[in-house]
This record gives sequence, C-alpha cells and structure tokens, in this order.
Amino acid sequence: MKITVLNGSPKGHLSVTMQYVNFIQKKFPHHELKILNIASQIKKIEKDEKAFGEIMDDVRSSDGVLWAFPLYYLLVSSQYKRFIELIWERGTADFFKNKYTAVLSTSIHFFDHTAHNYMNAICDDLEMKYLGSFSAAMYDLLSRKGREKWTLFASEFFDGIQNHVPTSKRFSPVHYRTFNYVPGPAGHKISAEGKKVLILSDLTNPQTNLAKMIERFKNSFIDEVKVINLHQVDIKGGCLGCIQCGYDYQCSYGDQDGYVQFYKDQVKNADILVFAGTIQDRYLSSRWKMFFDRSFFHTHTPSLIGKQVGFIISGPLRQIPNLRQILEAYTEWQQANLVDIITDEEDSQLLDAQLQHLAERAIHLAEKNYIKPETFLGVGGMKIFRDDVWGKLRFPFQADHQFYKNHGFYDFPQGDYKNRMIAKILILLTKIPYMRKEIYRKRMREEMVRPLQKVVQRVE
Ligand SMILES: Cc1cc2nc3c(=O)[nH]c(=O)nc-3n(C[C@H](O)[C@H](O)[C@H](O)COP(=O)(O)O)c2cc1C
Repeated sequence: MKITVLNGSPKGHLSVTMQYVNFIQKKFPHHELKILNIASQIKKIEKDEKAFGEIMDDVRSSDGVLWAFPLYYLLVSSQYKRFIELIWERGTADFFKNKYTAVLSTSIHFFDHTAHNYMNAICDDLEMKYLGSFSAAMYDLLSRKGREKWTLFASEFFDGIQNHVPTSKRFSPVHYRTFNYVPGPAGHKISAEGKKVLILSDLTNPQTNLAKMIERFKNSFIDEVKVINLHQVDIKGGCLGCIQCGYDYQCSYGDQDGYVQFYKDQVKNADILVFAGTIQDRYLSSRWKMFFDRSFFHTHTPSLIGKQVGFIISGPLRQIPNLRQILEAYTEWQQANLVDIITDEEDSQLLDAQLQHLAERAIHLAEKNYIKPETFLGVGGMKIFRDDVWGKLRFPFQADHQFYKNHGFYDFPQGDYKNRMIAKILILLTKIPYMRKEIYRKRMREEMVRPLQKVVQRVE
C-alpha cells in the first residue's frame, strides 16, 4: 500500500516525529510511506502551484494519509495550518474525500488533545475515513513498550485500510450564518484610566463584522486605542523549532524580522490585550497561529503575566468548543485574566452592549489587578511544564529553569517538611485499629474544614 505522510514539522526530515515514521517504514517494508515535507516547504508550496499539485496527486494516488506533526502551541504549526487552509482555498478538498487517514503527533502532552481534536475535525470536514490518532511523547520510541504500542497502532491502521473497515465521524460540520453586524452609535465613552489598551487583529477586509466589532470596541474609549494588524507586522515566517531560544530567550530570526521587537515593545507593554480574529476552518487564521508560535521565543515561560485579555471573534465559536478551550488555556497558562470572548453570534444590539461591557470590564479588572483562579487547564498544564523543565527539558531550556527557580514555580511538595511529618505521624496512628476508626469515621470531616473555619471566624 502507499501511504502519504504529510510531515508537519518545520524541521523537515530531521525531526523527532519523522523518526516514528522511519521506524514504521522499517517494520513494514512492504508498504510505502512517502514522506512529504509540508511545514518546512510551506513557502514553496504556497507560491508554486505545481508543487502543491504534486502533493495533491500523491494524496489522490495513495491508499491512506498519515498526518504526522509536532504539537505547536496547543495545535499544529502555523506552516501546517496554512497548508490546511490551502486545501480549501485551492478547491482540492475532494482529493481527500473517502481516504483512510490517521494522525501521529509527538509532544510533551501539553494540550495534545486539542491538537488531536482539531485534526480529527479537519479530517471529518474533508470527509476522510478516520482510523484514530496516536499521541507519542517525544521519546516514547526509546522504550520497548512505546515501540510496541506504536507498531500496533500502525498495523491497525494498515489493516483498517486493507479490510475497508467502517469509520465514524466525531464532529458535525460547522455552519456559518450570514449576519451583517450593524453597530449602533457609541455608548457612554470610558476612560482607559491610564491603562494601555492594545488590539491585535489579522484583518484583511474593512467591510467585515470583525472590522466593525473592532471599531465599536475602540469607540467605547475616550482615549485613542492602539490597533495593530498582524499582516503589517514584519514577520518573515513561522517558528522553525530550532529551540535556540532555550538558552536565553533569543530567537534565531534575530533582527531578520520585526517580530521579537514588536512583541517586546507592543504586546508586553500593554496592560489590556484584545485579540481579534475570524475563524478559519476550526481555528483562527494561520497568521494568528504564526503570532502564537513565534512567541515561543519565551519557551515555557509565561510572558503576559498579570494582563487582562479579551477576544473578539467573528465566526461560529459556539460550534467549536475545542477552539474556545484553546483560547482559555492560552490565557490561563500565560497567567493573564480572560475578561471575555465576544463573538458575532448575537444580534447587533446585544453585540454593541457586549463590546461596551468588555471595554468597561477590562479597565475595571485591570485597576483591581484581578486574575481569576486557574482551572485544570492552567494548573494541569503548568504541572507538565514544571516537571519537564525540572527534569528532561532543563537542558536545553536553561532560561526556563532559571525563571522557574527564581519565581517559585518549583512548588513540588518535597520541601513541605511540616506536612510530611504530620502525615507520617497520622499514618502511624491509623495502624492502631481504635485510632483508625476514630480518625476515618468520626474526625475526618471536622478536621478537613477546621483550618477554613478558623479563617471564617476571624472575619469581622
Ligand atoms: C513553537 C513550539 C511550540 C510547541 N508547543 C507545544 C505544545 O503546545 N504542546 C506540547 O506538548 N509540545 C509542544 N512543543 C514541543 C514539540 O511538539 C515537540 O518537541 C515535538 O516532538 C517536536 O517534533 P519535531 O522534532 O518532529 O518537530 C512545541 C515546540 C515548539 C518549538
């Protein structure tokens, strides 16, 4: 069988992900796994219609397609995202229709599920026959168990194709409604109270709902609010995954483009950030993805701590909960505060009120320095980073390690001697049947709330 492997690593063949593909090629030499470097060649693929056409020919003539990519910022890389956009832009979605497919990613399991949800949904949108996904941790291949699992997955994939097994869809198609937002007159204009408000957008057409939403939001302020269009920022390309930044946060693009300076001068300087974009397939545009990927020069160190963040989104966000989760997770791990996400899924009047309220609330919360408590998204995600930066990522991510050390990110319980001592004593006590009964049956509930009750009692 011929399997077309669409390689989503900007590093091309010299990629962790491709070693998993090479491994399978050796295990199943009777199948041809044709690797096409998509992410590393995206500029050529985009410019050269012939190069794009050859990829489509390979897809058409193959028995199955393997989407193989590294996780980049809770999704695929911006280069791979651009390729997915091109499939529809160039009217070639039909080449994928009814093809059997599977997904392979390598990562450190930080929001691998959102990337897999995304790719599963894209495959469903392309009407492909989805045979499952495999999320490998970067070095799973080093263990026998890891190799066995991956080999089994691959053999199930090949068998599924050969036996023409039935597959099921997980995601319904997204429906776009035609709605023309007509903003009303600006309401009560508010002062930014000295807070720097920055709107970032990827606007391409000033007639769109997004343009009008941005304008309406801007008009909520007495003060001039800065708007920067990402298409006007000098960004030469997506993140290359070289991780030179791991040593000291220096991006390998250096001063070849204006991204780092823009991020430092504009983004990091703002108190309130509003990200405005239009949904494209199941995410925002690849330009937006490039913005997020390139911010990886901060590696695993949050760079927007304490800021208020709002999103203004045009498109059916309610039908794509995965994207909502990505936006929420991004804000939480940045240790910023998500003020709200406003979409054009409402009528014009309500939208006016929501945009006005977003402005008022962002200023109010900025004045109060309010950061809401993190959910599992932020707490869980940070624990993955903490453990990995402490362990196997310490080298090469030395800058992260220094930051984590200096800012108390290493909150392992190991140093908690008081609690460890108490636990030891209590565990010993529970070896005595009478005490065990006393503690577990009578005292537990009382003791659990006792320290909290003390705080409540102290309130005057
Ligand atoms: C810009 C960038 C963003 C990344 N984002 C994530 C992420 O969101 N979640 C994760 O688990 N790993 C993330 N990683 C780690 C890579 O997914 C991982 O190292 C992968 O194995 C690299 O594969 P490759 O060598 O095939 O490109 C990121 C790496 C880079 C360079």
